[in-house]
Amino acid sequence: MQKLAGRIAVITGAASGIGRGIAVAFAREGAHIVVADRVNESAAAAVLSEIAEAGTRGLFVRTDVSDEASVRHMADVALREFGRVDILVNNAGIFTESLLEDISVEDWDRVVNTNLRGTFLCTRVLIGQMLARRDGRIINIASQLGQIGGTSVPHYVASKAGVIGLTKALAREVAGRGVLVNAIAPGPIETPLLESETEEWRSAKLAELPIGRFGRVDEVTPTAVLLASADGSYYVGQTLGPNGGDVML
Ligand SMILES: NC(=O)c1ccc[n+]([C@@H]2O[C@H](COP(=O)([O-])OP(=O)(O)OC[C@H]3O[C@@H](n4cnc5c(N)ncnc54)[C@H](O)[C@@H]3O)[C@@H](O)[C@H]2O)c1
Repeated sequence: MQKLAGRIAVITGAASGIGRGIAVAFAREGAHIVVADRVNESAAAAVLSEIAEAGTRGLFVRTDVSDEASVRHMADVALREFGRVDILVNNAGIFTESLLEDISVEDWDRVVNTNLRGTFLCTRVLIGQMLARRDGRIINIASQLGQIGGTSVPHYVASKAGVIGLTKALAREVAGRGVLVNAIAPGPIETPLLESETEEWRSAKLAELPIGRFGRVDEVTPTAVLLASADGSYYVGQTLGPNGGDVML
């Protein structure tokens, strides 16, 4: 039996990497998917065809999660086309490296506004209709760096620690009203985001990872399916860590 049959999911940043993997995994479990990404439609063609192959409906809505008007438009289209949104995965994220003393205000704002403000904006615009039905799941993609920190990534770490804090605060607000909010904090996963890392970083990270290798997208997606499905009905405000042992809490 499919775990998400007939459910409607908005997944931000679903044109690439982890978001794309979650979109396809959800579709294989029977969910219809709104692909909300800032890329143009041709860059979303691959995920849309994978969703179609899985036999559910995929709808692309070009969205900048850091922009309130764009997020409102995405929600309007999703609700007009599907009537409701049951699951929101706040996955869109960007990563840049800089020592704190070198970081520009613009770079700080870009990273924090995408990763944290975007999570707030998408959640705010979709949570009302979940609460009205007393039914909804929100899954925030954080990072293990938001738990342990990291050098040369203060803006990224702050944004992801913020996502974890927001997850806990909101989970307490809404768990009693039918909406479950949780986070996933992956370790280093082979996606285009990781390709920007230097060889030095890659070999140093591999040496310290207990499992001795980077993760694959399909090693993160089952956690998202768990949190989105009936199997995840007792998870509230948790941060689950498919991370190869990089963080042990
Ligand atoms: N890859 C890793 O090692 C890793 C580890 C921990 C956490 N994460 C997090 O996982 C999430 C997905 O990362 P990924 O590795 O799949 O990266 P990715 O670069 O492959 O995909 C990110 C997607 O987000 C989209 N996006 C970026 N800014 C956006 C915006 N303003 N509005 C809408 N869409 C936007 C991009 O177009 C892209 O499709 C991110 O939040 C990232 O921080 C990744």
